[in-house]
Amino acid sequence: MTHIKIDPAIAEALKNFTLPDNLGFGQVMAPVMASCIYENGRWGQLELLPYGPISMYPNAKVLHYAQEIFEGMKAYRVGGLGPFIFRPDENHLRFNRSAERMAMPHIPIELFMQASLEVTAYSADFVPRRSGESLYLRPFMFATEEALGIKPSEKFRFMVIASPSGSYFSVGGLSVFIERHSARAFPGGTGFAKAGGNYAASLLSAIKTKNLGFVQTLWLDGRDKKYIEEMSGMNFFAVINNELHTPEINDSILEGITRKSIITLARDAGIKVVERKMEINELLEDIKAERCTEAFACGTAAIIAPIDYLAEESGERFPLKDHEGKLALQLREQLLSIQEGRSTDIYKWVVNVEPKSLPKNL
Ligand code: COI
Repeated sequence: MTHIKIDPAIAEALKNFTLPDNLGFGQVMAPVMASCIYENGRWGQLELLPYGPISMYPNAKVLHYAQEIFEGMKAYRVGGLGPFIFRPDENHLRFNRSAERMAMPHIPIELFMQASLEVTAYSADFVPRRSGESLYLRPFMFATEEALGIKPSEKFRFMVIASPSGSYFSVGGLSVFIERHSARAFPGGTGFAKAGGNYAASLLSAIKTKNLGFVQTLWLDGRDKKYIEEMSGMNFFAVINNELHTPEINDSILEGITRKSIITLARDAGIKVVERKMEINELLEDIKAERCTEAFACGTAAIIAPIDYLAEESGERFPLKDHEGKLALQLREQLLSIQEGRSTDIYKWVVNVEPKSLPKNL
């Protein structure tokens, strides 16, 4: 492992932090963060700092051209076990795929892991302990070069911040609005990358979804508006004729690690999983005819959330017969029990982090 520089001010930050009872998602921040700067073609020293504001010049490229990527991972400590981080190696691979698309440097696995593990280790006392709660880790990288020319930045900052978090959604009551007009991503674009700009592109429709009285937006392909893609922050699954169907990955869909894990768990449980192009109108017919009985959203933050109904802008609703989501909840429990260290990790998905307290000389 590379050497990490620990700012002595983290002692005070750790001492002064108390975990509130009501966490929400991504609202409470752990008192430490990791940071590393890239310049002159190489990554510098990794530092552990107290969580707080960072400074940047107003002409930093990220503020103008959105050269930014991020990841979402979770560390669990249910019942005092762990902390366990779920599949960080997969997040690292995806981070570098995103970096390539956004003309940013790769992060070496050692740097990505050490930053994530140190933040988790020093935050171990602040990982909430109830099932479904976790320390949400947010690795991210952004362009800091001070220049307004449209050229890839030559300076970047990589950081890991963390948020002790409750559930993203309460399970139940998830209504999904079918976005038939705006698009989130296009073939050849950046949709497969976890780039901040993709999320910005989804926000106007998120407002529309909310104003229409629904919770989540379902995105269709940008070209034909015919095929289901994803839910911006989540992937989509439907149970059709007792098989699990999900849109096949293309360059405008973010490949979720939860999605990938669900496919493995379901196949190993003998459930047929079909990855294919899914036409929205065909799915609505399948729902009406009760061939499709269940649908759910999944993602790191959301875990697995059963869908109540799909809806059109006209207000027409397509309720799922099993809106409580029998299979969704079964998979959710199976996944959570691995993530929380309650069942044997046969897939070797979980990284056990040794909690740390401050070195004596700080
Ligand atoms: C995650 O599940 O980590 C996501 O990316 C969703 C997030 C944007 C809230």
